Amino acid sequence: MDWAYQAGSIIRESFKKQLTIETKSNADDLVTNMDKDVERYFIDNIRKHHPDHQILGEEGSGDDVNSLEGTVWIIDPIDGTMNFVHQQTNFAISIGVYHEGVGKVGIIYSVVNDEMFHAIAGSGAFLNDYPLSKLSEVELEKSLIAINATWITKNKLMNPSKLIPIVDGCRGTRSYGSAAIELAFVAAGRLDAYITMRLSPWDFAAGKILIEEVGGTISTLDGTPLNLLGQNSIFAGSTSLHHHILKDYLHDSKS
Ligand code: IPD
Ligand code: CA
Ligand code: CA
Ligand code: CA
Repeated sequence: MDWAYQAGSIIRESFKKQLTIETKSNADDLVTNMDKDVERYFIDNIRKHHPDHQILGEEGSGDDVNSLEGTVWIIDPIDGTMNFVHQQTNFAISIGVYHEGVGKVGIIYSVVNDEMFHAIAGSGAFLNDYPLSKLSEVELEKSLIAINATWITKNKLMNPSKLIPIVDGCRGTRSYGSAAIELAFVAAGRLDAYITMRLSPWDFAAGKILIEEVGGTISTLDGTPLNLLGQNSIFAGSTSLHHHILKDYLHDSKS
């Protein structure tokens, strides 16, 4: 968490300076000098203190990780780069630490809001100094669900008609543009569920640990466990709502 606070202040300082913005896989896939610098900052610190740990980072300065043996850090230096570039808010640093494939520490630091969501598996989850409660049961009609427009536009994974009754049946939908923040909000009870079509391990590694620590469930859209070394569709929520939606709405869908 000290490293995340430190990286947060480096990011805030960068608002005064000129950003270098490049594109990656397509014109909407942005990366800045700060994404790369913050990843390097974490990697340098981890390598210095834990030379035997593996590091999987979005911007590629880490290791070529192809197994979850030993201790693996999964890092997204800035989750919500588009928000970082356009809004200078609503982005987060996301760090998940796994040991032999089991989540141990999850940290999601929403930099501009100075909200530190963190969990140590088995010892509770917190927002800053406040313990997060176990997630309570909620009915679909009273639920607030995060989902972005790719369920209609880029959804080749499943038939959108399966999602329409969920969107129709819940109380409201939201889209924040940072998977890590959306997962942290589920853990904090600000959202009841989060549905998205495709994420990489660094997007959800920390959020998974937080959500499981408050008794929630996270899986693919067809209910199978997440692959921490590949891309997955994501469905996270309080366990009863997750179970209800999976059984009554999403069964037989591909993930
Ligand atoms: C992105 C954000 C976004 C999600 C994208 C991710 P990035 O991460 O989490 O909310 O919809 O799929 O790639 O690229 O800003 O780290
Ligand atoms: Ca990115
Ligand atoms: Ca991300
Ligand atoms: Ca990122």
